[in-house]
Amino acid sequence: MKLDDNKRDREKYPWWKRGVFYQIYPRSYKDSNGDGVGDLPGIESVLGYLNNGTEKSLGIDAIWFSPFFTSPDRDYGYDVSDYCAIDPRYGTLDDFKALLKSAHERNIRVLLDLVVNHSSDQHPWFVESRSSRNNPRRDWYIWKDGRQPGNKPPNNWRNHFFGSAWTWDEKTEQYYLHSFLKEQPDLNWHNSQVREAIADVIKYWLDLGVDGFRLDVPHVYCKDKQFRNNPPFYSLNRNIDFSLFKDRSFMSNLLKLLALPELQFKKYNQHQSETHSVLRGFRKVLDSYQDKVSVGEIIADSLPVIVSYYGRENDQLHMNFYFELLHCRWKAHAFRRCIQRWENALPEEAWPVYTFSNHDVNRAFSRYDQRGRGDKRARMLALMLLTLRGTPFIYYGEEIGMKEGLIQREQLKDPLGIKWYPFHRGRDGCRTPMQWDEGMFAGFSSHQPWLPLSPEHEIRNVRVQDEQSESLLNFFRQLIWLRKKLPLIVEGDYQTYKGRLPSGCYIYLRQQGDKKIAVALNFGKRKKKLEQLFNAGSVKLLISTCPTREPGVIAFPFTLKGEEGCLLELSP
Ligand code: GLC
Repeated sequence: MKLDDNKRDREKYPWWKRGVFYQIYPRSYKDSNGDGVGDLPGIESVLGYLNNGTEKSLGIDAIWFSPFFTSPDRDYGYDVSDYCAIDPRYGTLDDFKALLKSAHERNIRVLLDLVVNHSSDQHPWFVESRSSRNNPRRDWYIWKDGRQPGNKPPNNWRNHFFGSAWTWDEKTEQYYLHSFLKEQPDLNWHNSQVREAIADVIKYWLDLGVDGFRLDVPHVYCKDKQFRNNPPFYSLNRNIDFSLFKDRSFMSNLLKLLALPELQFKKYNQHQSETHSVLRGFRKVLDSYQDKVSVGEIIADSLPVIVSYYGRENDQLHMNFYFELLHCRWKAHAFRRCIQRWENALPEEAWPVYTFSNHDVNRAFSRYDQRGRGDKRARMLALMLLTLRGTPFIYYGEEIGMKEGLIQREQLKDPLGIKWYPFHRGRDGCRTPMQWDEGMFAGFSSHQPWLPLSPEHEIRNVRVQDEQSESLLNFFRQLIWLRKKLPLIVEGDYQTYKGRLPSGCYIYLRQQGDKKIAVALNFGKRKKKLEQLFNAGSVKLLISTCPTREPGVIAFPFTLKGEEGCLLELSP
């Protein structure tokens, strides 16, 4: 009986629902050969930091690697020129196999980044495709004649990095489509050979033992077959949920408005229904192996649209990121509503993912660091990330409170920053080298790193924080290991506390049967008194973001300090 229960639980809560994920941007994690660029042997050498089986390590269960495949780096790895080869700057295939083996020995699973909406223009497929109009691979990409008179681009589609989505090819006298840079031509997902070729790529890595994939912009894969013009941005009948805007930060809304997504609503070059059949195909491949997982980077202004990528029968992506939380204002009600909206939008079987930072946005620490408040707030974010219902993704360096790098114009690498500086400084600031120690190059490399180190690396580093019991790093460790001991954090329902609360406070409950925990958060700067809140016999504080607060049974009224969060266990 017991065994059956365990089996059922394992099926309902497989490793990817239980695990804590960690994103590594390989260029910036650890350099082993002194060229200033991170590499795979470097990463292997620090796996023990991530999980050595003891509470002295971070305790993560899976790594998502941003791309390390062969790439001319026009978009820093997100332009792949060989999907089955490791770029020599990161190492060799043998290095990857060794890394995978060491990771698995430590019970760390490995996810790769599948960037297949587009390839690099240096990919042999595209080189062939552009070589002549009748090359057998011509139709693997999207080619169209110009619009007459004047040989204008075939339609009004804009790319996601601003500008037309079409580039003229002199040699074969047609335009090709690119949803991002012109060096990132879009694959033609209506072509069955393309689908098969990518399925082979997926199988190649799964056969090597990889545990799954993060999918880069899958909502962009298929395009309207008639290539209709996109309507203007402000057109009616668009699928947009305006309630999302009220909880976003002023800056996020401003940027969104200023860019006015290229003055058009991308109706025909993203979120096409055929994409769902592509994803069902991927899922079949993944399911033909055991225990594999996918997580999608779906960007939409409507939650039902994002949710549709789980599939009606849960037969598409296992998980989808929820990017609204990366734009949320520092207000209790904004976080509460933002999280509740996602909880409400998800059907029962669809499993949530939470993350506050990644390689495309300003680091969460700096987003919320107004007047030096980042340290307290980073601890509250960590508490939320690791106790909400869903799989948490930590972005490398988040655990030591790495700040957004301050990159001078001449040091910029990201094409977005180079093109739009100073209006948009690009994404280099969140991709600076991992800070291992206070040495000249922060223990990342013995050489000048490819990007400058972010500020305060003398204090915000692993070596220093490892020794301080009250550091953010040790707080992350405690939370992650506590999470492993409290299955309720994975399995419990999520509920917002609905009773009266002092302003600036947000409480949520996680419940399973008669077991309950609560997370009480004070987003305000002033302390807040909580009256007897729960119908519980006793309430025990398990951990607080405030390092001086001792765990143990608490009495009400209970005073939350300014910007403090507490994890409480409620007993009947
Ligand atoms: C995704 C990636 C981003 C990349 C873009 C184009 O949004 O996260 O880094 O630039 O796709 O591949």
